[in-house]
Amino acid sequence: MAKPKVLVTRELYERPLRLLQEKAEVTLNRENRSMTIEEIMAALPGKMGVLAMGSDPMNAKVLGAGKDLKIVANNAVGFNNIDLEAATRLKIAATNTPDVLTDTTADLTFALILGVARRIAEADRFVRAGKWTGWTPSLMIGGDIHDKTLGVIGLGRIGSAVARRGQGFNMRIVYYDIRRLDPAVEQNHQLRFFPLRDLLRISDFVTLHVPLTPETRHLIGAEELGLMKKTAYLINASRGPVVDERALVEALRAGKIAGAGLDVFEAEPQVTPELLQMENTVLVPHIGSATDETREAMTLRAVNNILAVIRGQVPPDILNPEIYRG
Ligand code: DGY
Repeated sequence: MAKPKVLVTRELYERPLRLLQEKAEVTLNRENRSMTIEEIMAALPGKMGVLAMGSDPMNAKVLGAGKDLKIVANNAVGFNNIDLEAATRLKIAATNTPDVLTDTTADLTFALILGVARRIAEADRFVRAGKWTGWTPSLMIGGDIHDKTLGVIGLGRIGSAVARRGQGFNMRIVYYDIRRLDPAVEQNHQLRFFPLRDLLRISDFVTLHVPLTPETRHLIGAEELGLMKKTAYLINASRGPVVDERALVEALRAGKIAGAGLDVFEAEPQVTPELLQMENTVLVPHIGSATDETREAMTLRAVNNILAVIRGQVPPDILNPEIYRG
C-alpha cells in the first residue's frame, strides 16, 4: 500500500525524520530558507499532513489548497500562524508542541532579564570595541535582579517556569492572568495575583508569556508602558505583536522604562530600527526554544502527532478536538 504523503516545510532533525519516513512519503524542503506561501500551496495537494514551522502562515487559503490534508503539525508551541477556525471547518487536525520547550524558553527569558539589567550585551560590545581602560566605580552600572519584583503576565507553563527561576533569585513574584489560581495554590507557590495595571505599577521586571490572540495584540502599549516604573524592564519572549513596538521605542526614548529584553518582534525578521540603536535593549532573534535537545524534542513531538493521525488516532497535542466529535 502506498504510504501517505507529508510535506515538511523545513529541514528536520535526522531521528524524527527517519521515524516519519518509515510511515510516510516525505517531501522535505532542504533549502536553508522558509518556503513561500505559493510554494507551500503548490506542494500541498495530495499531502495528508504538513509539518509546519511557527513562521509558516497556515491561513485559510493555504489550508484550503490541501484537499487531502488531515493534519497541520506545528513545530512550535505557539500556533497563531494557524487559522484554527479554518482548520476546524476543513476538518484538519491542528497540533503544537507544548511542554518540551517550557524550561528552555524560561531559561532564555531569564537570560534576557539578566542580560538587560546587568548590561551584558552592551558590556560585551564595549570590551570588543577596545573601550575598556580599567576598573571604574561607575562603569556599566545596572539594576539588581535578586530581591526585586518580577511581574509575570500569563502564568501558563512558560510563565510558571520563569516564576520558579525568579524565586531561585529571591524575587517576589506577582502575576496577572485571565484565569486566577486558587488562593491556596497561590499561597503554596508564593505567587500573588494583581490586576494588570497594578502589576505594571509595582514590578521591576515585567515578563510576557501570553499567546498571541486578538485580545493580547498590543496588550502592552503606550498607556501600559506609562504605568511602569522608570527603573523597570520589559521582557518579551512570547510573540512580538503582544507589544506595540512603536510605543516601546517611544517609552525607551523618553526614559519611561529602563530597558527591554526582546526575543520576538512585531514584524519578524524586521526590527524597528530605533531599537537597534539603543544600548538599553537586548535583542535576540526568536531563539527561545533554540537548544539542540529542545528543538529535536519539538520535532519529535510534531512527528508523533502526524504518526498518530496516520494510525487513525487523535493526535496527542490536538488543538481543535471538536473535529473528532459528531
Ligand atoms: C514556539 O514554539 O512557539 C516558538 O516561538 C517557535 O515559533
